[in-house]
Amino acid sequence: MRVLMVCLGNICRSPMADGWLRHKAKAYDIDVLVDSAGTAGFHVGEKADTRMRKWSKEYGIDIEDLRARQFTQEDFDRFDIIFAMDQSNQKNILRLARNEADRAKVHLYLNELHPGKNEEVPDPYYGGEADFKHVIELLDAATEAFLKNYQFI
Ligand code: 4NP
Repeated sequence: MRVLMVCLGNICRSPMADGWLRHKAKAYDIDVLVDSAGTAGFHVGEKADTRMRKWSKEYGIDIEDLRARQFTQEDFDRFDIIFAMDQSNQKNILRLARNEADRAKVHLYLNELHPGKNEEVPDPYYGGEADFKHVIELLDAATEAFLKNYQFI
């Protein structure tokens, strides 16, 4: 299974979601291909946000190698599931969908954790340390829920 995590800048939320899924896939010996992207191009080529890199280390997750890239229409062909971190990201992804098959691939990540609630992973970019920690813990729980929902664990 090929999974793409998407947020706005691809420097805070989606790299962390990507990091958790890679980490857990390795730990549970699950065959998934994971990547992340941003709907915006402001940070293309950059490493994840310094604060997210610092906090991810505290949780034992290594996201040092990730570099931001922008979501493209070809991602609908490259991935089986596309997880948006918030509704605005989801809307922007759906705007590029070419057909119903593309649209069907797009889901809000927190619906794995709280089905049908359409909750969003809050953008920590303008927040403080506590906001980063909150995002990391939400993404940990959502990733665990995703793996259970798809019967990987
Ligand atoms: P992300 O956070 O979407 O979780 O990567 C943001 C990163 C950068 C900006 C906004 C959100 N920005 O406006 O530059």
